[in-house]
Formats: sequence, C-alpha cells, structure tokens
Amino acid sequence: MPVLSAKSLMMQASPIRKLAPHARAAEASGTNVIYLNIGQPDMPTPPEMIAELHGLSLARLAYAPSEGLLEAREAWSAFFSSWDIEFAPDQILVTAGASEAITFILSIVAGGGEVLVFEPCYTNYLSFAAQADVALVPITLSVEDGYHFGSIERLRGCVTPKTKAILLCNPSNPTGTVYTAEELAAVAKVAVEHDLFVICDEVYREFVFDGGEVRSFTRFRDLAQRIIVVDSVSKRFNACGVRIGCMATHNREILDVALRLSVPTAEQLMVVPMLENGRAYSERLCGEYERRRDAVFNGLGAIDGVSPHPSEGSFYTMTRLPIDSCEEFAVFLLRDFSLDGETVCLAPGEGFYVTDGLGVDEVRVAFMYDAASLGRAMRILDAAVGAYPGRLVTTTE
Ligand SMILES: Cc1ncc(COP(=O)(O)O)c(C=O)c1O
Repeated sequence: MPVLSAKSLMMQASPIRKLAPHARAAEASGTNVIYLNIGQPDMPTPPEMIAELHGLSLARLAYAPSEGLLEAREAWSAFFSSWDIEFAPDQILVTAGASEAITFILSIVAGGGEVLVFEPCYTNYLSFAAQADVALVPITLSVEDGYHFGSIERLRGCVTPKTKAILLCNPSNPTGTVYTAEELAAVAKVAVEHDLFVICDEVYREFVFDGGEVRSFTRFRDLAQRIIVVDSVSKRFNACGVRIGCMATHNREILDVALRLSVPTAEQLMVVPMLENGRAYSERLCGEYERRRDAVFNGLGAIDGVSPHPSEGSFYTMTRLPIDSCEEFAVFLLRDFSLDGETVCLAPGEGFYVTDGLGVDEVRVAFMYDAASLGRAMRILDAAVGAYPGRLVTTTE
C-alpha cells in the first residue's frame, strides 16, 4: 500500500470538525444545537454582490491573469486606500481567499525556515505552514494578559538564525485581541533588527470594538519591503463561499514569484462594488458583533470560576473554563447534556495551540448568533459547567 507523505501527517484534522458527528447525533435526537464553534457568518451576503454576479456579461470564462483582473486589483487598491493603506493595483495579487495568500506567502518568504506566531492562533496556520514546509515557532500568550504579548523581549527571545518572518493576525482569531501601537512597534523593531518579513493577516480589520482601531504596519515606512498584508472578503462581507482574497506588498520580488494560473473570474468581479463602497455595510456588522460580544462576555462572567477577557475585535473570544478537558466537555455537551431541548457546540482550545498540551482548559466562542441566542447559549454553558463530572473546584468551595 503506498503511504502518505510525512508532510500530510502534520496537517491535523480541524478540531472544529472533529465534533461534527456528535453534533449531528444530538440534532438527530431532537436537540437544538447552538454552534459556537464555527466562524461562518450567519448574516446574508450583501444583495449588491449577488446582483453584480447576476449582471455580469461574460461571453467567455477564460483564465484571468495570474495576478488578478485589473478591475479587481483596482478595487482592492481603492479599498485599502479608504483605510489609508497605500497599495497600487500592481502591488496586489488576487487570491483564492486569504487561505491561498497565506500558504503562498509562507512558502515564498519562509519555506524551509521558521516563522514566529502568537498562540493561540488560527488553526489553519498549522496546516498552511505544513504545506509550505515552514516550522511555526509559537510565542505563547495567556488569557490573564488578554492575549497581549506586551514586551519586545518575548519576541526577541524566540528569534533563531532560521527565523524568516513573524505572522500576526490582527484583530486576532481566536482571541479577539487587537494589538496596541506599542506591540506593532515592537514587531516592527524586531523585524528590522533580525531582517524578517512581517505577514499581517487583517481579514477582520473592520471588526474592532469600543471605538478602537487596527493600526496598520504599512505606516512603518522602513518596513515597506518586509510587510505583506493578507486580506479577504469572506468575513467583512459575509461572503466566505466567494473565495476571494488578496495579498499586497511593496516588495516586487515577492509578487514576481507569487504566480499560478488564476483565481475564478466572475468571483473577482462580483466583489468589486462592495470593495469600493462597502464601508458602511461592515460598520453595521461591527455594531452587531459588538452587541454579541457583550452578550458572550456578560454570560461567561456569570459562570462560577470563569474570568473572561473582553474581546477587542474580530468575532471570537477565547476563555478558560473550570474544566479538566474542554475537548471532553465539548463532547459531553453534545452527547449527554441539554437545557430546555438545547445545547451548544464549542471549539476546544487545544487545536489553536502549536505547543502540544496547551489550551486543554480553554475554548473559543464565535459570535455567529444574535445576542439573545448567545445569551441563552451562555446560560446552557453555565448549567453544563455545573453538571459536568470533570469540573475543577477551588479549595474555597
Ligand atoms: C485569521 C484568518 N485568516 C484567514 C482565514 C481564511 O480566510 P478565507 O476564507 O479568505 O480563506 C480565516 C478564516 O476563518 C481566518 O480566521
């Protein structure tokens, strides 16, 4: 029997998907499952985008240029410009979502080397890195610090002669952290000191709460040749299935080698109007996510033994539960527990860590339901924590 490659063994099955059979069984037995585990937006794709698709008159669906259609790259350039981020159309490569962009960038700037990443991190970074032959070197953050890294020494201490880049998701999936100006300056400083690239995944840029903002690395002029920004329409326009994103950089060398046939033609075009005029739409989404964040934060705070940190952006939060194994707890919720005919599906924390054994008592919660449903979900979680046999109790109880 032929065997699979060694690389394939490093591509772990998504921890989120592992629970799917239990969730299906719960639903089959009549229990309503509230899915807190998946970052698939629940709100409709903007009708303008769908109308654009229907209105396209394409006589022939030929390959688009490898770098992307000019109209699409111009629209991305205008979109960045509306955020005071300057990338000319020829500094942008349209990709099949942020996923393709990240895999591409990792292999181009770091193949065979190491990339620093803050953990907990987006789970797919692990498989993208495996595909690109990159070793992720984690800088472990903790819930007590709101998953901020604070000191530049944390970063410096992880750099080795093999380090090629720092990969950062801002605002962060899974933690909801929005890095401060000082933190960005620290990343920039270490990048210059050690001759590193900075890969900045900003797919949640619009979703920042409490009047905060995402600061862009592009304002560090001396970093111009080192920065690669990754973006996508998936989350900001509720359009994950469109599979359109981009990578943007002032570094010509990177763009010159980032070539393959092309990404789908119609999809590149259907997103143009929203890229040009979608700011108000995503601001409304942000307001809705902030209400949902509040419902989750308040609900988690009411659970005995849970001290949540307020998510600053994206549409996730990560929290520690007073539970011995959140993976087993997630199965318990689906297999053995319900409250008034409902239960919740959680994303266990372990899958978001590069380091084995971390995150066993953490979960990620996604805000993909309205605030009332999320409030109900938190009450279910509260009751389940109380009922779970593996609950950890403090000595004062
Ligand atoms: C941080 C982050 N980067 C990239 C992606 C992938 O985005 P896309 O759908 O554009 O491939 C996701 C999707 O969840 C994400 O959370």
